[in-house]
Amino acid sequence: MSTTAEIKIDGQTYEFPVITGTEGEKAIDISKLRDLTGHITLDFGYKNTGSTKSAITFLDGEQGVLKYRGYPIEELAEKASFLEVAYLLIYGELPSKETLDKFQKEISMHTLIHEDMKKFFDGYPSKSHPMAQLSSLVCSLSTFYPESLEPNQTEEEKNLTIIKMLAKMTTIVAFIYKKSLGHPLIYPKNKYDYITNYLWMTFGQRTEDFEPNPKVVSAMNKLLILHADHEQNCSTSTVRIVGSSDCNLYASISAGISALWGPLHGGANQAVIEMLEKIKADGGDTDKWIAKAKDKNDPFRMMGFGHRVYKNFDPRAKIIKKACDDILESLGINDPVLEIAKKLEQAALTDQYFIDRKLYPNVDFYSGIIYRALGFPSEMFTVLFALGRLPGWIAQWKEMRTNKEPIGRPRQVYVGDVDKHMK
Ligand code: ACO
Repeated sequence: MSTTAEIKIDGQTYEFPVITGTEGEKAIDISKLRDLTGHITLDFGYKNTGSTKSAITFLDGEQGVLKYRGYPIEELAEKASFLEVAYLLIYGELPSKETLDKFQKEISMHTLIHEDMKKFFDGYPSKSHPMAQLSSLVCSLSTFYPESLEPNQTEEEKNLTIIKMLAKMTTIVAFIYKKSLGHPLIYPKNKYDYITNYLWMTFGQRTEDFEPNPKVVSAMNKLLILHADHEQNCSTSTVRIVGSSDCNLYASISAGISALWGPLHGGANQAVIEMLEKIKADGGDTDKWIAKAKDKNDPFRMMGFGHRVYKNFDPRAKIIKKACDDILESLGINDPVLEIAKKLEQAALTDQYFIDRKLYPNVDFYSGIIYRALGFPSEMFTVLFALGRLPGWIAQWKEMRTNKEPIGRPRQVYVGDVDKHMK
């Protein structure tokens, strides 16, 4: 097996090492390319560019494989809780029962946010998007915990920042929702586990105890686990690149939240439901909308279809599709947009355009339907994605810092004007 690759430029041959990952992935290490040849590589959208070596998540887009720290996503979604998976991603091992209890307890001790943070809500316009609020509120945590600004925090200090981030995220996400309804805020309760506490702050009644539907807790656990990490995607790369300037955890996560917001990334879950609603309002003619998606002169894209790396199937979509059927059945929901979703899915499996381009429903195609069944408005869907993705972002930020990776700074090929002068 070749351990070097040759690049020939102007008749001269240069050798570069070939790196093999633990799952057999191959990469040509071109870190010396510019020094040796004076050339850089050009790769729009980083479709062929590895930015780091990572031991957190493995995915094989051709085979439809996704593993966190070596564990298949199917097993984790079936047997683990979201907090166990968060611990696994951040610290590298599944926690023992004692470690998990301690982790939960530490998080419970930090779920309150500073009362002054509530004043921010008074400044946001009443219909402002929850993702804008989330990004700014998370960044604002750094103003309340200035110790997080120190780039050389000890492990213990860094860990406390991580715990605070995980703990306060649920409260911020729940408060955003309550504020959007104009409802009074519900404060966290230490006796509840991570997911139950979040559901309590979101759906509880202030004066009563809370008995969440176990099916809802299970669906939330699954959804958040499926979203917990996805190697070097747009938002995670953003978190790593912002963090590479020694920027604090809160600001780095806030940048990741902004990157996630776009409809080509996490914002797709909101866009899917809005698309399904639009098709329904238009009479439900899925053929017409499939034709629009295929028409190169029409800007319409089938939201929730296609993926940059999954070119066979998205293993998360498989699990979530089943969870979607289960939760709708157990809650007795008959959602008309689901029928439209099923027709579109069927078309994707049989239409040559979708087959040729390997366009399959992705995780966001189904997650919105579940969130809707649980009672969330569509503007909250991407916020829930961010809640799930948080441990992944933290793990990637931590790994990048631990490995002392250099500041991220791509190069470019300049194609602008040359040698212009002022009169
Ligand atoms: N509907 C119709 N056609 C599509 C779609 C779609 N959803 N996605 C890709 N295509 C077509 C493109 O027009 C292109 O066709 P062509 O080769 O004839 O020009 C071909 O498929 C390849 O598409 P690219 O845009 O080059 O693929 P890329 O890997 O850059 O994009 C992406 C991936 C952004 C996910 C894209 O498929 C898309 O826009 N999907 C809809 C948005 C979505 O669901 N995003 C969520 C992704 S999952 C996540 O981030 C959590």
